[in-house]
Amino acid sequence: MKKKLIALAAVGALIAGLAGCSSAPATSGGDAPAAKDLKDLVVGFAQVGAESGWRTANTKDIQDSFKEAGIELKFSDAQQKQENQIKAIRSYIQQKVDYIAFSPVVETGWDAVLNEAKAAGIPVILTDRAVDSKDESLYKTFLGSDFVAEGKKAGEWAKTEFADADSVKVVQLEGTTGAAPAIDRAEGFADVIKGDKKFDIVASQTGDFTRAGGRQVMEALLKSQPHIDLVYSHNDDMGLGAIEAIEAAGLTPGKDIKIITVDAVHDGMQALADGKINFIVECSPLLGKQLIDVIKTLNEGGTVEKRIVTEETTFTQEQAAEALPDRKY
Ligand code: AHR
Repeated sequence: MKKKLIALAAVGALIAGLAGCSSAPATSGGDAPAAKDLKDLVVGFAQVGAESGWRTANTKDIQDSFKEAGIELKFSDAQQKQENQIKAIRSYIQQKVDYIAFSPVVETGWDAVLNEAKAAGIPVILTDRAVDSKDESLYKTFLGSDFVAEGKKAGEWAKTEFADADSVKVVQLEGTTGAAPAIDRAEGFADVIKGDKKFDIVASQTGDFTRAGGRQVMEALLKSQPHIDLVYSHNDDMGLGAIEAIEAAGLTPGKDIKIITVDAVHDGMQALADGKINFIVECSPLLGKQLIDVIKTLNEGGTVEKRIVTEETTFTQEQAAEALPDRKY
């Protein structure tokens, strides 16, 4: 029996370690409240919006995870506006919630409201997207993907795919201006292709991470650009919008114009399996379980890593066809 308990404790420690959490009490004298029953905890979550399939899956996963953990969740949708998110955070501070979690619409402009949360003794957890602030004490951890690495994976695929080409005209569909994934995915991609002179980003415009935005931008670019070899879209939804525009222009997406997207949500994976997208870099929206682990650890007075990176993969057309039947979102 004793051996069994030791083995169980070891497995528990391993799982906590993988999630970037440690159940050892905080030594920094931080602002973690005394441990509460999970049913007495209240967490405010300020979501970006409902702009994409990724976001819908992320919201569902977070809501389901809180339900399963028996922790009360106050949820707000900022409709992709920073001022709405700031309002929501201020209202959570007023309501004296135990934790605030949020996925920032854009990277900058958070110091004032995060200082208010700090002054009120409410720990903040960043999920999915980072803030650009010099003061790391304003949040406990940033839990989410490495967007620069995602951009690099897209660039590496493009380099291999077009290894024998003399020139590659690229159109980039950017995410929301000022958002971490838009900035970082552009940076990672540019970093990889910059040494290869044949790549030319002939246009780069925001489609705000939406399908309608992707379609609109692509329609305009198909008129203004005499030749496009590759579309690099910062998410599946904009890529799906671009496919509609390409088809409407009488061209074949995936053949006449190759397409790389990021996310790997169901509709994107279907388009990849159907040959309309050529490559997808995965960005996982399933952050709910890790968020709960972080909250439980902080609630028990433990410490969490300042950065918890989500593990992700990439998909070719063949891999998408294979993965689709078991895809959860
Ligand atoms: O922050 C993650 C990004 O936001 C996803 O790639 C995109 O689809 C979403 O809107």
